[in-house]
Amino acid sequence: MPTKTLVTCALPYANGPVHLGHLVEHIQTDVYVRALRSLGEDVVFLCADDTHGAPIELNALKQGLSPEQFIAKWYDEHTSVFRDFQISHDHYASTNSPENQHYANLIYGRAKEAGSIGKKDVEQPFDEKSKRWLSDRFIRGTCPNCKSPDQYGDACEVCNATYAPRELIDARSAISGEPLVWKKSSHAFFLLSKHGDFLKQTVSNPAFMNPGPAAQLGAFLEKLADWDITRDGPYFGFPIPGETNQFFYVWLDAPIGYIASTEQWAKKTGKAASALDYWDENADARIVHTIGKDIVYFHCLFWPAVLKVAKLKVPEHVHIHGHLTVNGEKMSKSRGTFINARPYLDLLDPNYLRFFYASLLGNGPEDIDLSLKEFLQRVNAELVNNLGNLANRTLTLLAKEFQGQLAAPKPELGKPLVEGALAKLKAIKDAFVTFESRAAVKQILEIGYAANQFLTTHEPWKKLKVPETREAAHQSLSEAAEIVFLLTALLEPIVPELAQKLAKQLNREGLTFKRLENAAYPLLDRTARIGDPSPLINRLEQEQVDKLIVLTAPAEEKQPKAEPPKKDVAVAPSEIEFTDFTKVALKAGKVLACEKVPKADKLLKLTVDLGEGTPRTIVSGIAEAYAPEALMGRNVVVVANLKPRALKGIESRGMILTAGKGGKDLVLLDPGEVPPGAEVK
Ligand code: MSP
Ligand code: ZN
Repeated sequence: MPTKTLVTCALPYANGPVHLGHLVEHIQTDVYVRALRSLGEDVVFLCADDTHGAPIELNALKQGLSPEQFIAKWYDEHTSVFRDFQISHDHYASTNSPENQHYANLIYGRAKEAGSIGKKDVEQPFDEKSKRWLSDRFIRGTCPNCKSPDQYGDACEVCNATYAPRELIDARSAISGEPLVWKKSSHAFFLLSKHGDFLKQTVSNPAFMNPGPAAQLGAFLEKLADWDITRDGPYFGFPIPGETNQFFYVWLDAPIGYIASTEQWAKKTGKAASALDYWDENADARIVHTIGKDIVYFHCLFWPAVLKVAKLKVPEHVHIHGHLTVNGEKMSKSRGTFINARPYLDLLDPNYLRFFYASLLGNGPEDIDLSLKEFLQRVNAELVNNLGNLANRTLTLLAKEFQGQLAAPKPELGKPLVEGALAKLKAIKDAFVTFESRAAVKQILEIGYAANQFLTTHEPWKKLKVPETREAAHQSLSEAAEIVFLLTALLEPIVPELAQKLAKQLNREGLTFKRLENAAYPLLDRTARIGDPSPLINRLEQEQVDKLIVLTAPAEEKQPKAEPPKKDVAVAPSEIEFTDFTKVALKAGKVLACEKVPKADKLLKLTVDLGEGTPRTIVSGIAEAYAPEALMGRNVVVVANLKPRALKGIESRGMILTAGKGGKDLVLLDPGEVPPGAEVK
């Protein structure tokens, strides 16, 4: 068994804020790493931002920033969020670093030398106007299957068909709107097909990866396709040595970021001579990656093969987790369930989420659900009531009634309680080091219940009021304090801040799994006093949880904002009386005429029949979503009793209702076939 372990999380794209989905991975991995550290293992936990590729470059461009400025902003957002969630990365790097370029070149050079790089001509779509090669996501056109307009180059969002960009009807560049031009270019490929046997063997090893996702790789393994690692410039990335205006595909240098992060960490701390102390194929180390189920191909096929040819260390284990759903559904911006991490932190204690995720996560790739109802219930019942109350009532009574002094051990009373808890230690440790934190949480809660039961049986709060039984009360509280002390070790991987808080209240250094190795009753030195108790953590309130949804709902932009959304949480709309709502008159209208508003890209001027005799003029910001002629004769929903407003010098009387993100992403609400003027209720 190697003496040291290197653990990584997948590198978040420097293209948007950290959200609660990312945190599944970082919290799960942090729990795992903290447990290893508590066991006394030599472990380093690394991550970085993934910064290269066309989407990042184009988003930077849109915001008038250089890619470097753009990724620097996201770097600050990501690292500050991870810090506030107490994710204990030892180093957090960026793939846009000299170290990464060094290792990318080294690996490419070694792969070339080993005969694993080939050249092939590829024909790709080019945008003559913006002078860019277009990846599938930057192509828009009409779906060849269902004929829906404005679909991506690789898949239709309406009928879910997948296709090649060539099949798309009237395909155009999403950047300039120009028709595609197909051009040839010679690309370097990584010859994955040369590594079939190695990959089959690697993937089928259950110690390497979960057999479920491994089985899904089967078909791909049977027909290994070589991997195009070239992108033609302009491209934000590393130039390929020896080629002109060609760059490494972002997914080649992204995982190499794990190595570059190791190198920077080694330089920063002096704890290793270089990354090769971990990554050389003969290094005395094991590598563990944590990833989501969407990036298995990259980590379980390409990456091991690349490492193998480059004579570097192949990961011992790739832990694959599922995706987060919120209230049973995929996170969705329009439902307000796409919750970013910073707005969460503005509202709620990170320990709630750490605890809840840990209580749900196992080592399989199943999705996990943040049911907000369950979140509230379990946090309150388990963290606040069970564990928090145990600590609080025990320590408060000891402090208030006994000046913080502990009674001498009384084995016939305390030993069974403490030994019962210690008997669960092995299962808890095993659960933590196999990514089964939910099993660990379950055992810890049982320890908590048993200790609470112990107090309920012995009723120290009653006994301390009677002089003859006061000593018995002191005794049972002191035995219960043993379990509170044990919690400093048990809770550390899950909610480190709370474990430290308990240790401080006990006036002791927190326990570790290592120190508990040969532990026996009593765990506490009974001669030293405890410190000042305070509640471990507040109850989670329904209103706070509700705000989580409402507050984050307005962040509705397809392109991420460059400004970290630290304080951009909108104020929750306050509730209104039903009678306020009835003041709004909604009516069905029919569009009789429609034209563009001069000098206003977003506005259309509509003539709408609301059954009033004289049609109304309404100005509406839907010009990006609808051409004027598409609206003729359509039925729409109108807020009929808005005071007239002047928009671009036109008096607009009423407002047309739409749903969607705005801009192109808008649909008109359709009242159905009803006469103009019909009430909408
Ligand atoms: N940049 C790549 C990874 C490169 S690793 C060399 C990437 N970035 S990502 O930001 O899209 O995702 C980072 C990690 O977060 C991935 O492991 C991904 O699976 C995980 N998650 C992103 N959304 C998620 C959920 N909704 N739920 C759980 N994890 C999810 O992929
Ligand atoms: Zn379609």
